[in-house]
Amino acid sequence: MFDYVDGGTEDEITMQRNRAAFEDLELDARVLRDVSTIDTATTVLGRPVPLPIVLAPTGMTRMTHWEGELAVARAAGRVGVPYALSTMATVSIERVAEAGRAPLWFQLYMWRDRGLCRELLERARAAGYEALVLTVDTPVAGARERDFRNGFTIPPSLGVRTILDGARHPHWWWRFLTSEALAFDNVRGRAEGSASLSFVATQFDASVTWDDISWLADAWGGPFVLKGIMTPADAKQAVASGVRSIVVSNHGGRQLDHAPAAIDALPRVVDAVGGDAEVLFDSGVRRGVDIVKALALGARAVLVGRAYLYGLGAAGSDGVVHAVRILETELRRAMSLLGARTIAEIEASHVHRRGAW
Ligand code: FNR
Repeated sequence: MFDYVDGGTEDEITMQRNRAAFEDLELDARVLRDVSTIDTATTVLGRPVPLPIVLAPTGMTRMTHWEGELAVARAAGRVGVPYALSTMATVSIERVAEAGRAPLWFQLYMWRDRGLCRELLERARAAGYEALVLTVDTPVAGARERDFRNGFTIPPSLGVRTILDGARHPHWWWRFLTSEALAFDNVRGRAEGSASLSFVATQFDASVTWDDISWLADAWGGPFVLKGIMTPADAKQAVASGVRSIVVSNHGGRQLDHAPAAIDALPRVVDAVGGDAEVLFDSGVRRGVDIVKALALGARAVLVGRAYLYGLGAAGSDGVVHAVRILETELRRAMSLLGARTIAEIEASHVHRRGAW
């Protein structure tokens, strides 16, 4: 389970570069600026938020912790940041909406069955989700080779290694075996085989094109975000298709290996469409300084994936809150040391690439 969360695609080159590229960016502090009060509030998709952080959509979250998406939604409600629920969630759209006060977004993977897509949108709208995120970097699944080596399947299969591992993690197994059986709850009863990852993976539509974007945006009718844009050309195409929000992301290095680090792609995309679209960012954010760097390079906010999943695995909902609080503390400290009192004061001059002087 840890490897499913922690790992990336093939040789994990892109996943490692996501971190290495952040490490290559250096911060330039401005001093003597009265940083006695620091304000981390901003707006994302037009909504005021206390932090420039969104909890990214992640599939199968009930494997990380038995309460899964419910625990994440409660945590998001406690800290006031948006949570994007995945199509591949293991708790349904409706149950997550009942869990708390978090601003919710719904992340869609396009199914071949467009009727099912429309149903999902209608359910998300009826349950009060505020934005739709279409993930576009996943026409096929990346090859997570750690999962192959581990014999990772949904539903889990019991091999010798799994049983030995279970002996080392009895609490996880007890909770896993005594809670509701794992299934892709959003399509339960609607897509046959909704408890099997190998089946669900065959149901995604690899034939999606830009032509599908407008009907989808129209069918939704509210804030609409494309997640997984990495080039200026695609960013411009998105804007030409009427999209006003994009996430620069390489899916945390889980899709195309040898794609560049997402933080390297960010300034190019911002140059191309920054005036016409709200640009969000993810892939590799682990610390407050990473948030500062992404914002300095033009992102309005960052999504975090693994950073909150590690907290979830360690301590459930409290662990997610704790992970966000760590990021917040680090962000505040970095802003103070940089001389940026507000999110708007974080600017391009605060960051440069190492050796670029
Ligand atoms: C993901 N991600 C993802 N994205 C998405 O649009 N739908 C999904 O169902 C999933 N599932 C998923 C599972 C797991 C275990 C991880 C780690 C990630 C990608 C996610 O939304 C985000 O783009 C990355 O996690 C960002 O990179 P970091 O923050 O994990 O480095």
